[in-house]
Amino acid sequence: MASVLLPIALLATPSRSTSSIFDATPVADAAAHVGRLPAMGYNTWNDLRCDGVSGARIVALAEGLVASGLAARGFTFLNIDDCWHEELHGPGGELVPAAAAFPEGLGPVVDAVHGLGLKFGIYADRGFFTCAFRAGSRGREATHARQFAAWGVDYLKYDSCWAPNVRRRGALEDYAKMHRALRAHAPKIQFSLCGWSGWYAPAVSAVPGVHSWRVGADCDEWGNIYEVSRTMEGLGDYAGPGRGYNDPDMLVGTSGSSSVHLTPTQSRTQFLLWAVMAAPLLLGTAPGDMNAWDFETYSNEAVIAIDQDPLGVQGAVVQSDCPAHAPKDNWWCSPWSMPRDVADVWTSLLFTVAAVVAATAALLGLAGRRKTAACCVAFALWAASYTRVIAGARPVVPDCAQVWAKPLADFGVALLFVNWGGANATVACDAACLVRAGVDLGAPLPVADLAGRAALPDLAGGVDARLAADLAGDGGSLLVKVGGRAAPLPGPWGDTLRS
Ligand code: GLA
Repeated sequence: MASVLLPIALLATPSRSTSSIFDATPVADAAAHVGRLPAMGYNTWNDLRCDGVSGARIVALAEGLVASGLAARGFTFLNIDDCWHEELHGPGGELVPAAAAFPEGLGPVVDAVHGLGLKFGIYADRGFFTCAFRAGSRGREATHARQFAAWGVDYLKYDSCWAPNVRRRGALEDYAKMHRALRAHAPKIQFSLCGWSGWYAPAVSAVPGVHSWRVGADCDEWGNIYEVSRTMEGLGDYAGPGRGYNDPDMLVGTSGSSSVHLTPTQSRTQFLLWAVMAAPLLLGTAPGDMNAWDFETYSNEAVIAIDQDPLGVQGAVVQSDCPAHAPKDNWWCSPWSMPRDVADVWTSLLFTVAAVVAATAALLGLAGRRKTAACCVAFALWAASYTRVIAGARPVVPDCAQVWAKPLADFGVALLFVNWGGANATVACDAACLVRAGVDLGAPLPVADLAGRAALPDLAGGVDARLAADLAGDGGSLLVKVGGRAAPLPGPWGDTLRS
């Protein structure tokens, strides 16, 4: 927990060229298709946390992905997150699958997932430990890469907890070690960096064999969705086929076994935002077990098609009245980077410490040891006030609205209207906004509401052209497609007209 005290100055070191850090030689032809479009699948973290991760559960989740029809819609990765392995390394420095949860090891589980036509993703960490205190990969990159290859792993999420290298260059060097190891032993693995900061984008997007990078803290509440979306705004140039994708974190549903949920409106808006931002779509809700709302959200093929559009362009903000935003450098245990559940644990821990130390101070005072008592009082005050720092560091969503636009391969444009503020609002995109979005106003164009699955009145061209949406507060949104060839019609889930 010493990292709590690390001065921010340490993290502000500018990164030098990354070409000398990473192996920048082109990937072999066999690996060239890997990660060309944003990954789609399921990840255990927002659903299970550490609770009940096991071989049997993973296979059941994979079966759910197939049986629900979500796999057929593109959600083909079954990614296991933290807590699949033991706290200690094996005798050869290897990662050891948790014995009770994986009685036959990991290989048969990966085989079963593959047998269902899915791909298998795993989780490891560049530090001494993972965020949940399982064994880390620091100094053992080659051993672990060989294990991943032997198991047939297709995807690696590589986290940043408990890593002594907190400066940018050191962090990149850690990532480069695993990158080299993967290129040597498992060259077709999709490599997903998890360093929680936007500065990774310019540093790694040109590196062959790096497919995505986390740009913000864990998305476990609406404030984080706002925060990371604002960070994504400045990173569009780094995304695309052959470059890789900015990763704003995983999807948050409205139901599921963990405590990480959003309201139905916010959860759907997150999905629409992620699609327009060309972000990886990793479900955080058990596929075979999700409620009707979540299933309707995630099975919408018209929205998935926006995310998976072959151009792979990340959408940009074409209109916004949101305040200026400075992306944060996140690091493990910084108050603003803590997942909400970790922040809750810290808060209770610090309160308990403050209470115990204050009681000790009182006893010491009574015993006449006034100097020691004064130190204890000072420490108790620090501990108590730090809980305020943690609580105050949760991101605040201002009253504002945005319009995002994403150009599509069929010459259509996806336009997403988002109301971040608490009150209902009408959000409009006038002719100037539509031109910024790349809409050709020379002739009337068809407009389709992709989430509502309804055709809307055509957009008349010319200087008076305007699209407006009446949106609910706290995350109301409307995703429309203007022009292009494939427009969705109203109908049961997933029905689209393809022309
Ligand atoms: C970090 C990551 C999360 C998740 C947890 C697991 O917080 O950002 O996405 O992987 O670790 O412990």
